[in-house]
Amino acid sequence: MQVEHFVNTFVPENYNLFLDISRKDKVFTGNVAINGEALDNKISLHQKALAIHSILLDNQELSFEMDDANEAVHIELPETGSMTLVIEFSGKITDNMTGIYPSYYTLDGVTKEIISTQFESHFAREAFPCVDEPEAKATFDLSLKFDEEEGDLALSNMPEVDVERRKETGLWTFETTPRMSSYLLAFAFGALHGITTKTKNGTLVGSYATRAHQVQELTFSLDIAKRVIEFYEDYFGVHYPIPQSLHVAIPDFSAGAMENWGLVTYREVYLLVDDNSTVSSRQQVALVVAHEVAHQWFGNLVTMKWWDDLWLNESFANMMEYVAIDAIEPSWNIFEDFQTSGVPLALKRDATAGVQSVHVEVNHPDEINTLFDPAIVYAKGSRLMHMLRRWLGDEAFAKGLKAYFEKHQYGNTVGHQLWDALSQASGKDVAAFMDSWLEQPGYPVVTVSVEDDVLTISQKQFFIGEEDDKNRLWQIPLNSNWQGLPDILTEESISIPNYSALAQENDGALRLNTENTAHYVTEYTGELLDNLLAELQGLDNISKLQIIQERRLLAESGRISYASLVPLIASLKHETSYLVTAAIKQVIDGLKLFVTENSDEEVAFKELVALISRENYERLGFEKHEGESDEDEMVRQLTLANMIFAGDSTATTKASQIFAEYESHLVDIPAAVRSLVLINQMQTAETKDLVDHYLSLYASATDGSFQRQLAQALSRTTNADHLNLLLSTWKDKTIVKPQDLAMSWYLSFLSNDFTQEAAWQWAQENWDWIKAALGGDMSFDKFVIYPANKFKTPERLEEFKAFFEPQLGDMAINRMISMGIKEISARIALIQSDKEAVIAAIKTTIA
Ligand code: BES
Ligand code: ZN
Repeated sequence: MQVEHFVNTFVPENYNLFLDISRKDKVFTGNVAINGEALDNKISLHQKALAIHSILLDNQELSFEMDDANEAVHIELPETGSMTLVIEFSGKITDNMTGIYPSYYTLDGVTKEIISTQFESHFAREAFPCVDEPEAKATFDLSLKFDEEEGDLALSNMPEVDVERRKETGLWTFETTPRMSSYLLAFAFGALHGITTKTKNGTLVGSYATRAHQVQELTFSLDIAKRVIEFYEDYFGVHYPIPQSLHVAIPDFSAGAMENWGLVTYREVYLLVDDNSTVSSRQQVALVVAHEVAHQWFGNLVTMKWWDDLWLNESFANMMEYVAIDAIEPSWNIFEDFQTSGVPLALKRDATAGVQSVHVEVNHPDEINTLFDPAIVYAKGSRLMHMLRRWLGDEAFAKGLKAYFEKHQYGNTVGHQLWDALSQASGKDVAAFMDSWLEQPGYPVVTVSVEDDVLTISQKQFFIGEEDDKNRLWQIPLNSNWQGLPDILTEESISIPNYSALAQENDGALRLNTENTAHYVTEYTGELLDNLLAELQGLDNISKLQIIQERRLLAESGRISYASLVPLIASLKHETSYLVTAAIKQVIDGLKLFVTENSDEEVAFKELVALISRENYERLGFEKHEGESDEDEMVRQLTLANMIFAGDSTATTKASQIFAEYESHLVDIPAAVRSLVLINQMQTAETKDLVDHYLSLYASATDGSFQRQLAQALSRTTNADHLNLLLSTWKDKTIVKPQDLAMSWYLSFLSNDFTQEAAWQWAQENWDWIKAALGGDMSFDKFVIYPANKFKTPERLEEFKAFFEPQLGDMAINRMISMGIKEISARIALIQSDKEAVIAAIKTTIA
């Protein structure tokens, strides 16, 4: 279905917007004077669930027609040309975390509310009538009134003006914004507090949260925000475009964070850093801040013309966050984080038939949310941008970006305008190179083999599960460690004679895709594989991770046996690096699929896990050592998880001791081991008291990371009564915030055999409630994605189909459903084909 673009008939220039909001009554009234140019006598504005009382042009009432099905109001104009429309309207405030919505938190035992906004992707229309399309850039003058209480603070994109007048009248007024898209407008008010600083160039930077949090929790993010702004100014060669950069943590938040220009909003866990926090949670906060700040240029200053080019925003921001953090905190080796998170995510999802491409047509608003697939537009998209940056070199890349920003600032672009700028800067044909990656779904497996002294390199689309081969080809940067191969593989296959001479001229085994920056997997065969594995121990950590990851994917696709991974990871048990430990952990998690719970094969498997983790366990133990590296802390977390899973008695005893020591104040258990201690206690000493204790801590905690750890620990219950008690809290918003239901609770309960069935039943029985609470935004599809990620039996597959197939007509989830069916089917087939060999390999390896 083609949706009309309202900007084609009315081009807004300025919105003078006044909103009067009642937190108490959950309603608002407002008026907006929209100055713009009408290109037709019939124009339309977006509105959703608003009541429109009047539309005036030069004090004359115009006739208009509400069209709720299309989220629009159609207006008849007596003339075309430049004009100012004045509209009176009102609306209701609802809890679904879009438009203008409340957040709930407790301060000194009293429930309080702040109000904030979430307008991306198309929810500004819930707050005021507007042309709610990214291309319809305009300036905004916002003023606000609300049922203000002593100490309340209101923030918006721009600094406040007329402060003295506000103190008398209660009217908060903000400076005119630059020209920008409606989805970037924002405000937040209530009992907020925060801290501020200034960048070298004088931009005001601030970090805010509700008064339920200490301001010290904001110092980390404030410092990161300041330094990343300075970094981007330098890298992009364009100043941060507006006077302020405020960052505010919102108690109820559907996404992770939102880049509103000058007023970035966050889920609390992505902005606040507690005294007792882990290295990885601090790195996560830094990455999220760097991501949203990157959008202040990529997305805000220059914006995609339409949502089909969302990758211009998200893929770029997701790449730049790593470039920025690597520049300001080089010792973190943050690119490693991408190798263990985004890379496997993209490689997995993009191998399932039916996946969308990074650049994808969208028409209907309900389709827009489905674009934000974390595995595709984020993980794959940013992997493609890393690949491009490597191909062009950082210098040409940055130079091209600077030219792009200078040319298009305050405007809108389509993808090829970025390619033009990068081509100019580098002299390379960027569009020809990138189109094959952005326009096509999936990615290739590159097979290398030697026969009769001829080296053959060929490409073919890589699938896990059902294949849907369309003979697609990609422009593949080979990035080999050898000289003498072409730069890019464009054909299906190339043959290079005199392999042995080539091998003589080069050192070591042939490798492709060095540094693992390009989006493909390599299948080495025959002597090439033998040579590579023979030198595995001496390779750099990224290469080791890459080989483990690629072998795992090849096994999932059925191209090699999963059993071959068992000796591979066992051979790496001396590894101390985070990268390799994390890659091994992913294989261990994969192997769990083949092992039946409470069986003798599980005993053998646990022995294998302990065998692989023992050296790190002995090296690191439970306690932080004087002067240890951040990396050691991260390896410790993975190692302890393995040892506790394996039921190693020294590990479980030690964890129980720590629990006993901290029993009255569990939140203070050092964050890096807290999760494991909480889980271990459930696994070894579950009682009703323990469950009650965790639940009451959950309900009163202010630290979201701690809450997530408690939920994960509770998912280890093996008691039916406790399970029912826990499920009964899921709809109680005073205990479980809807924002946390999918990721903290539902996913954890689906992940354990004992709790899976009941959690799945719960979701089916409460589907309407889930849809009502979360259906409007992007987190809803997780209720399809998560079961698809976890189910592994034919019975569950049938249940999944029975429940979801009737919903294939729902655009918001239809792709997730059809891919989910393929994903589960592939997993079942894998278990059937490889289980016996895997168990045998486990038994041989521990013998
Ligand atoms: N622009 C998005 C937030 C967003 C996504 C709003 C979908 C509306 C619909 C923001 O920049 C973003 O990408 N947030 C991520 C976190 C980020 C650090 C990867 C998110 O919310 O998951
Ligand atoms: Zn983003």
